[in-house]
Amino acid sequence: MNLAKFDNFYYRYKGNEEYALNNINLNIEDNENNIILLCGETGSGKTSLIRCMNGLIPQFYAGFYKGKVYIQGKDTTETPIADLSTEVGIVFQNPENQLISMNVEHEIAFGLENLGVPPKEISYRIKESASLTEIEHILDKAPFELSGGEQQRVAIASILVLEPKILILDEPTALLDPYMARKIINLLQEIKGEKNITVLISEHRLDLILPFTDQLILMKNGGVIEHGSCEKVINGKNFQNLRLNKPVIYSIFSKLKKENLYNKNIPTSIPEAIKSLKM
Ligand SMILES: Nc1ncnc2c1ncn2[C@@H]1O[C@H](COP(=O)(O)OP(=O)(O)O)[C@@H](O)[C@H]1O
Ligand SMILES: [Mg+2]
Repeated sequence: MNLAKFDNFYYRYKGNEEYALNNINLNIEDNENNIILLCGETGSGKTSLIRCMNGLIPQFYAGFYKGKVYIQGKDTTETPIADLSTEVGIVFQNPENQLISMNVEHEIAFGLENLGVPPKEISYRIKESASLTEIEHILDKAPFELSGGEQQRVAIASILVLEPKILILDEPTALLDPYMARKIINLLQEIKGEKNITVLISEHRLDLILPFTDQLILMKNGGVIEHGSCEKVINGKNFQNLRLNKPVIYSIFSKLKKENLYNKNIPTSIPEAIKSLKM
């Protein structure tokens, strides 16, 4: 079954003339255990696409829509947001807006308590997700006392405990310094390995995320212009033409290709580049 499926979906926010999402057709397959990167210029519709995946669009945001979005076969216009949230865990852009409890442990327990999970199971799941996100030492702190990187980890942990099929993060490193950003990306890679879930991430720091990306979704002007394997998409014209901060390694190898000094696929990481040059 499809994890998420968009069928000719259009959406525009109330008061806007333009469609934020313009005829989206997209399939995200289940059990792919992939990191999927959502990529596009600012305003291209990434956040809006993510808001569709737990029904916030069209149920919470006022606006006009056409077409369908299904999450695990469930129509998102008819399924309560609370039900979709157990399948799709979303960490939105400003984690501090999402953190509402007096301490981190309660924050993580909150969603599980609402779902009526037994206390024993709750404490087991908190331990597990706190250990994975490395926040065991701050469980009794208040979320507002934490650094941006810690808040981001807590936000991720509080979603992970719900054991979603797909974890979605909207620009999780936007507010972090390069060191913390790298740690968050490494964490996502670990989560993918340990939890066997699909991770969908909207992220501008392509240099950090591309080496771990399995699939790429490119957005432009509210439309999905390409969806495929990372290798295929970054070697195509659509990626080349997007106005994004390309990774250094991409820029070097595409230049070499242009000058006919290199004729293989553009690599996404230094180890891959070395491998490709040795072949
Ligand atoms: N809450 C909102 N109300 C009205 N318009 C919005 C809202 N959120 C986004 N938009 C508009 O929708 C379009 C797509 O934005 P967005 O999905 O945030 O793109 P991205 O995440 O790629 O930057 C933009 O034109 C933006 O101004
Ligand atoms: Mg956005």
